[in-house]
Amino acid sequence: MNKLLLLLPFLFLIGCQKNKENPSKTNPKYVVDAHSYAKPNEAVAKHLDLNIAVNFNKKQLSGTATYTIDKSKKAKEIHFDSRNLIINKVEVDGKKMDFRLKKGDAVLGDDLIIPLTINAKKVAIDYQTNGNNDALQWLNKQQTTDKENPFLFTQGQAILTRTWIPIQDSPQIRITYDATVKVPPELMAVMSAKNPKQKNQNGVYHFTMPQPISSYLIALAVGDIAYKPISNRTGVYAENSIVDKAQKEFEDTEKMVQAAENLYGKYPWEQYDLLVLPPSFPFGGMENPRLTFVTPTVIAGDKSLTSLVAHELAHSWSGNLVTNATWDDFWLNEGFTVYFERRIMESVYGADYANMLALIGRQDLDETLASFKNTPENTKLKLDLKGKNPDDGMTDIPYEKGFLFLKTIESKVGKEKMDAFLKKYFKEHAFSTITTEKFIDYLKQNLLEPNHIKFNVEEWIYKPGIPNNAIKITSHKFEDVMQTIEGWKKGKISPQEICNKEWVIQQKIHFIRNIPASITLKQLKELDNACGFSNTKNSYIAMVWFEQTAKRNYHENNIDKKMAEFLIRVGRRWYVTTIYNALKENGRLKEAQEIYKKARPNYHSVTVRTVDEMLGNKEQ
Ligand code: BES
Ligand code: ZN
Repeated sequence: MNKLLLLLPFLFLIGCQKNKENPSKTNPKYVVDAHSYAKPNEAVAKHLDLNIAVNFNKKQLSGTATYTIDKSKKAKEIHFDSRNLIINKVEVDGKKMDFRLKKGDAVLGDDLIIPLTINAKKVAIDYQTNGNNDALQWLNKQQTTDKENPFLFTQGQAILTRTWIPIQDSPQIRITYDATVKVPPELMAVMSAKNPKQKNQNGVYHFTMPQPISSYLIALAVGDIAYKPISNRTGVYAENSIVDKAQKEFEDTEKMVQAAENLYGKYPWEQYDLLVLPPSFPFGGMENPRLTFVTPTVIAGDKSLTSLVAHELAHSWSGNLVTNATWDDFWLNEGFTVYFERRIMESVYGADYANMLALIGRQDLDETLASFKNTPENTKLKLDLKGKNPDDGMTDIPYEKGFLFLKTIESKVGKEKMDAFLKKYFKEHAFSTITTEKFIDYLKQNLLEPNHIKFNVEEWIYKPGIPNNAIKITSHKFEDVMQTIEGWKKGKISPQEICNKEWVIQQKIHFIRNIPASITLKQLKELDNACGFSNTKNSYIAMVWFEQTAKRNYHENNIDKKMAEFLIRVGRRWYVTTIYNALKENGRLKEAQEIYKKARPNYHSVTVRTVDEMLGNKEQ
């Protein structure tokens, strides 16, 4: 005890020393983010108390966002991001305060500037949405699976949270939150937080997210949904008619969580649930903490598309626990997640499976590289998205080039060292954000230098294209596919024999994507009749088949009608843009536009924006 007391002054001195070395003036905590008006080095939100009502008739959210803030002594105001929000009233520590909504641009929205008193602690913003809020998709009954009740969901990434909450919308600013959400009593609300498992009578739901997260990860969904557990910490929410099917489809989720934990440490968010959304959901999945949002198109009946769950789960570490500081560093989220996803898949389903995923990814990457041959700057890992919509950075480059970078390093150092490094990286950066530059330093100091490895890190990250030392991805499962294609071309193997092969989905996908140009329409029809591709229930096969048939002007078996139906029902951006693009590239733009006219009202704003651009739609 006495000895400890003697030590105290020294400890105090060490503490001061540290502060001196790292004054926030010379070394600001937050870097410049071109996509946010917040000035977090001056005044930053730490906790959000959200109290909102959801009005389906008016398609409006209204309520109060109350922030607990941290400010420097000098700060005279605090800045929030806000886009298409009506700000009714602002209070600072309970006193009404005049605010300014400084007009910004169409992508960033406005700068909400609130003057602060010297010791200001709480800022309460009374607001409502204005009906044109890109994060939100309000679905009528007909647009849901059960067709009995309306549905609402939010999509925050990259900078859409500011369209439903006035917020400091930069990924490097982490906040905890509590929320109270009032919804019609026949519906249930869930968030990226501790969630209810049942509906309640009054339609008022309370949420807490005790761990600090970035604004893009705040999410809300409201609908007639039910919950089914998978294990004591995993489960699934879905509309009533599909919840059992979803539970079955995703029954390996607990195994995946365990595989992930064995690789890179304890699951950091306690609960891992999935929410199956209506088919207009614009992504395959979105990694909202504790509650991944997924498209219903992954429910194939045979678990064949569940690598998507591994992907979103992996984000619980790469993305949600350790977060890209700005959208220019997006590859740190997605490249690591693709690497981690494939490690989980390898551990649960074997190396062959993971290799097939990697080779499909490599083919995607090559197509993307080819499409950027006139704009090579888009193929850098570290992006420069200043003045652009950060959504434009969401190409295969951060995902697949990022994966290839890590896989190539792994091949140099070996899996064991790679895993020890990644585990340490997640542990030491938990609940914080990281820039590309900081990551490069960390990689050199903790992996490359100690192992005396020379590696062209800068070339990989700052230069376009793929460096020469990229490892070659191979899969012997795909060799059989390529040989089969050769045999078919030469007439040595019949369509029926092809369909009888016991291939897994990735092999089928690889087969369809590599059908050679020399195959005639007659042969394509024989194949279709034998394998039934035009009637497939598997959304991934449907998508690549429609891509091929669109390119080749194949019109048999009612394919055009089926393709149009698919495009109208499904709003998953990757799927629909692949098909529209195939039509467009093949001189069928008019047809694509005709279908899109009918489909557009079903799509979420992020899909609308991309397809508008692709098909030259000006109408809003
Ligand atoms: N976080 C992304 C989705 C995203 C990225 C939304 C950028 C908005 C802006 C998610 O984890 C993702 O990558 N989804 C992929 C699936 C995955 C298996 C590659 C998708 O939706 O296609
Ligand atoms: Zn992802």
